[in-house]
Amino acid sequence: MIKAKPFVKWAGGKRQIIKELKKYIPEDIECYYEPFVGGGALFFDLAPKKAVINDFNGELINVYRVLCDFEKYTKMCNLLKAYEAKNSEEFYYEIRNKDRNKSSISKMSDYTRAARTIYLNKACFNGLYRVNSKNEFNVPFNKKLKLNTYDGENLLTIHTYLIMNDITIMNGDFEKSVENAKSGDFVYFDPPYDTLNNSFTSYTENGFGKEEQRRLFDVYKRLDKKGVKVMLSNHNTPFINELYKDYNIRVIKAKRNINSNGKGRGSVEETIITNY
Ligand SMILES: C[S@@+](CC[C@H](N)C(=O)[O-])C[C@H]1O[C@@H](n2cnc3c(N)ncnc32)[C@H](O)[C@@H]1O
Repeated sequence: MIKAKPFVKWAGGKRQIIKELKKYIPEDIECYYEPFVGGGALFFDLAPKKAVINDFNGELINVYRVLCDFEKYTKMCNLLKAYEAKNSEEFYYEIRNKDRNKSSISKMSDYTRAARTIYLNKACFNGLYRVNSKNEFNVPFNKKLKLNTYDGENLLTIHTYLIMNDITIMNGDFEKSVENAKSGDFVYFDPPYDTLNNSFTSYTENGFGKEEQRRLFDVYKRLDKKGVKVMLSNHNTPFINELYKDYNIRVIKAKRNINSNGKGRGSVEETIITNY
């Protein structure tokens, strides 16, 4: 079977370290959970038959949902083809600025919003997803006129995979999405990265500070006690090492291509932490 690839480039995307992650995937999994799915690099690579995927980002999850419905998926593909043909700086800002008018974006069909999300991801600077305090997408145009928005073959592979398997798609907080996980299931957590800033109340650009990392650790422990196999990836920081010191921590090198300020290119250390 042809494997699907992520339909967006996503900050923290795991394509670079998939080989490493796959070394630690348990053999028999009843249900696969990925509560911070993002672009779903590992999810698509493993293509589990039964899964629960989740992300906080509503625009991203809307694309996954549109891809589950043949009619909507077809309409989204047609729009994407048209957007690619019209791609220019002016057109980019026209599509980007649709969310400046709240009543216009709320009237937009789900497949039009999905096409907008994929198009903006391909045509924006560095494939970033960033919104301002009014929830308006504010990444500038990438200035490349040649873009490959419409990867029809991959979108068809994703559509086919999603409808042929038992995939539940959720749009909320990570904690809720794993409430039903039980012994025999497997959870992969790929949260926003921990940073070296040690202040507990510090504002983090990704909205996921030390308190959130601690809350995630509590969920990790709870799942462990229930007999669920759990794997987590994060940066190799002292804070993460201290939190998870009773579990199996492996350190690997990863190449980072995108981060919000563009300074994070190069090689960084990541941890892969399992309870088995
Ligand atoms: C490091 S990225 C995941 C990358 C993904 N593994 C990939 O391959 O593309 C983290 C994701 O967590 C999501 N997120 C942030 N806070 C969240 C929360 N409280 N609950 C669920 N998802 C959250 C973000 O929207 C983002 O997509």
